[in-house]
Amino acid sequence: MNIENTVGNTPLVKLININPYKHIEIYAKLEFFNPSGSIKDRIVKHIIEDAENRGLLKKGGTIVENTSGNTGAAVATIAAIKGYRAILTMPDKVSTEKQNTLKALGAEIVVTPTSAAPNSPEHYVNTAKRISEEIKGSFRINQYDNLLNPEAHYLTTGPEIWEQTGGKITHYVASGSTGGTISGVSRFLKEKKPEVFSLMPDPAGSIYYDYFKTKKINNDAIGTYFVEGVGEDHIAKAMDFSLVDEMIQFTDQDAFETARLLARKEGILGGGTGGANVWAALKLAASLTVPSVIVTIIPDNGVKYLSKFYNDEWMVKNGFKL
Ligand SMILES: Cc1ncc(COP(=O)(O)O)c(C=O)c1O
Repeated sequence: MNIENTVGNTPLVKLININPYKHIEIYAKLEFFNPSGSIKDRIVKHIIEDAENRGLLKKGGTIVENTSGNTGAAVATIAAIKGYRAILTMPDKVSTEKQNTLKALGAEIVVTPTSAAPNSPEHYVNTAKRISEEIKGSFRINQYDNLLNPEAHYLTTGPEIWEQTGGKITHYVASGSTGGTISGVSRFLKEKKPEVFSLMPDPAGSIYYDYFKTKKINNDAIGTYFVEGVGEDHIAKAMDFSLVDEMIQFTDQDAFETARLLARKEGILGGGTGGANVWAALKLAASLTVPSVIVTIIPDNGVKYLSKFYNDEWMVKNGFKL
């Protein structure tokens, strides 16, 4: 057993105190139980194993990735145990806790301006591409466009949810960035039970919601928001909208307020996207008249955001209600 073997098989817990709907069961899958504290350990493990098997990543090689932090922590963790060099690019909105975690695990980080447009060479994705071209024999995880990303969820997260609910799941709720989590899990669950309904929350300021509704990319929908790790300014190839039944937009206030409530009422200290997912699960629950079993995801650990939305002063300074 090494640290890599502890990826996956995370607990699924029932929300008790914040669910007022007696005919609805809401479960949260606690992905912060993964070794680097997020759901991303699953995809990085799968993608690195595949690269090794195909000879794309050799002993002592370099892994490069653009990441909002969690994929970086997963890369840094697996690179540490396997002896790879890790270079990670990210926008400067990523919390200091996340940046310092990567450095602690021995990774090199390159921070770029959050305001850089998707077509700018300074954008963190383009920066990762450039670095991986410059370093001979380096391997890029390419989480946005790599179909092994949803496959990791199809092979692990989906089957775990199916087993843990004894096949009773009726609704699945997950927001997305690469779309790996929502697409891979939805594919597995719908193969098992086609009527499973997939709901994808999306932050106001992301292009996914408009794209889902109109099938057109509306660059005017792009805006800034504080929630880290979901929503997008481009359409990722790992995102398969044919597996999504409905989308719902949320605000930073919705996500942060619910994350704080989860911590205080359920003892679950998750990140902002976990708050958004539970907020959407509660909205969905309010609309359901028949007994249902909703499963949602808490993608990462709230400790990463103690200086942000778990901090009252930060909330007030940034115009949020407590
Ligand atoms: C905190 C957090 N939540 C949710 C997600 C969304 O996961 P996915 O990329 O599988 O759509 C991410 C991805 O970066 C994340 O960092």
